[in-house]
Amino acid sequence: MTDILQGLRILAVGAALVLPAAAQAQTSTRAAEPEGEKAPAVTVTDGSFKCLLDMKKVRHFYVDNLSGRLDETVKVAEAGEGEYPEGSVVQLVPNEVMIKQQKGFSPITRDWEFFWIDVDGDGSKIFRRGFVEVNNRFEMNCFACHVKADAKNDFTCGADGGGCDPIPLTREMFGALQRTDPRCKNAPPVSAADQAALKMVGEVVAAMKEANASNRTMSEDAPKK
Ligand code: HEC
Repeated sequence: MTDILQGLRILAVGAALVLPAAAQAQTSTRAAEPEGEKAPAVTVTDGSFKCLLDMKKVRHFYVDNLSGRLDETVKVAEAGEGEYPEGSVVQLVPNEVMIKQQKGFSPITRDWEFFWIDVDGDGSKIFRRGFVEVNNRFEMNCFACHVKADAKNDFTCGADGGGCDPIPLTREMFGALQRTDPRCKNAPPVSAADQAALKMVGEVVAAMKEANASNRTMSEDAPKK
């Protein structure tokens, strides 16, 4: 009995960072389905996403609204605190997106739906979407980091981290990723500084992938102990 509890405890710690493989496998099938009887009010398809540079820039990130409430979204983003309205789209980098569903739809994520989208010259393709269970491409869980944001920031971390687990990228690296969003038709030529920053992003991403591959092995091993 104690062994089982111990195993569960280890599993729970592992799951806080990276969900076990079984939960990940469900992500894609569950993705588009509404939770319970309710359906999400904001319809999101591959075509809902834009080149970052065509969105509204507020300080270091970009916003939009899929429900015609852009003014309200911008107001919260500019204030740096408050509750984002339904339909809000928030992005820092081309691949990771948070979209606000209707009030009460997913109380645990404060109604945010998390997305990882793959982007190229043809546009955007949803790779994963959902709520608590969604991981990014490096198998890091969106919710696990964002749930630690200060309550007044409505799940957004902000430039100072806002209480979230940090991402090991600099302002220059985020800026370079934004300016080289492959979906943008009129993107300026890539500067030497951005090229250097992107090279460093590549190195950080490789290190993150490696770190998370070993985390995953640990959480898979845990229940057997
Ligand atoms: C390791 C922790 C971590 C993970 C995992 C993570 N984020 Fe974040 N996220 C952050 C931090 C920290 C920032 C703020 C970075 C900055 O501006 O310097 C951020 C910023 C953002 C922003 C810009 C608004 C804000 O919160 O400042 C969005 C949108 C976002 N993340 C979405 C996602 C999505 C979607 C996923 C999963 C696919 C994800 N994040 C995974 C930590 C994380």
